[in-house]
Amino acid sequence: MSAQTVVLLGPPGAGKGTQAAALARATGWAHISTGDMLRAAVAAGSALGQAAKGYMDRGDYVPDQLIVELIAERMAAPDAQGGVLLDGFPRTPAQADMLDELLIRLGREPAAAVSLEVAPDQLVRRLSGRLTCQSCQEVYHLETRAPRQAGICDVCGGQLAQRSDDQPETVQRRLAVYQEKTAPLIAFYRAGHRLTAVDGLGTPAEVAGRLKEAIAWS
Ligand code: AP5
Repeated sequence: MSAQTVVLLGPPGAGKGTQAAALARATGWAHISTGDMLRAAVAAGSALGQAAKGYMDRGDYVPDQLIVELIAERMAAPDAQGGVLLDGFPRTPAQADMLDELLIRLGREPAAAVSLEVAPDQLVRRLSGRLTCQSCQEVYHLETRAPRQAGICDVCGGQLAQRSDDQPETVQRRLAVYQEKTAPLIAFYRAGHRLTAVDGLGTPAEVAGRLKEAIAWS
């Protein structure tokens, strides 16, 4: 695979954010996470955040139109003019079409996708133990990636907290919404010969090694 724009596909808890952050650090590519952007908007109390909060708290998707505007603006930023790792976008067929159109408009190559594959029982285990830094969004896990000091981010010293949508009932809803709305994108990218499937089980370092093999960095 060789592309300037790589979509990380995978269900909630597959490790998209963990891997995208590590790859961005290693390569200098921009890490664009619509989930992080929406959580920042909610924390700031902006109009976007107020519109998105109810959907996110229920485990539903935020309407495509809001996401499309968010991504179009973010992809125009200076740090997104080289390689880009998209984490959590696109996640509906309409968003995938919008991304293809946006990349044509920006004169960029079509996106390629990597699908991180993890069994459902592991997803629930990962999400129930996740902690996220409230300042820099670094992701931890109580068992598999504990911070050096409990409740404190190793990277920036910020406070760690559980995400409000990681409660068990919301997790089940998010997994169901993923199956209904996002899983079809795997077939979409496969049909265009733009998909590489990567085993997401194993340590984060093992998964990162497989991802690096799947993506030819330019
Ligand atoms: P978003 O933030 O994108 O959530 P998600 O897709 O549900 O994915 P997660 O962030 O939960 O999981 P991840 O795959 O990134 O896993 P992570 O690396 O953290 O979206 C949240 C909400 O925002 C959505 O529900 C929706 O409402 C809205 N939204 C966002 N984008 C949208 C869009 N485009 N359209 C509409 N609505 C949108 O890892 C999980 C845990 O596992 C961590 O604790 C980590 O330490 C651990 N872990 C990671 N890798 C491993 C490993 N190899 N082994 C063991 N543990 C591991």
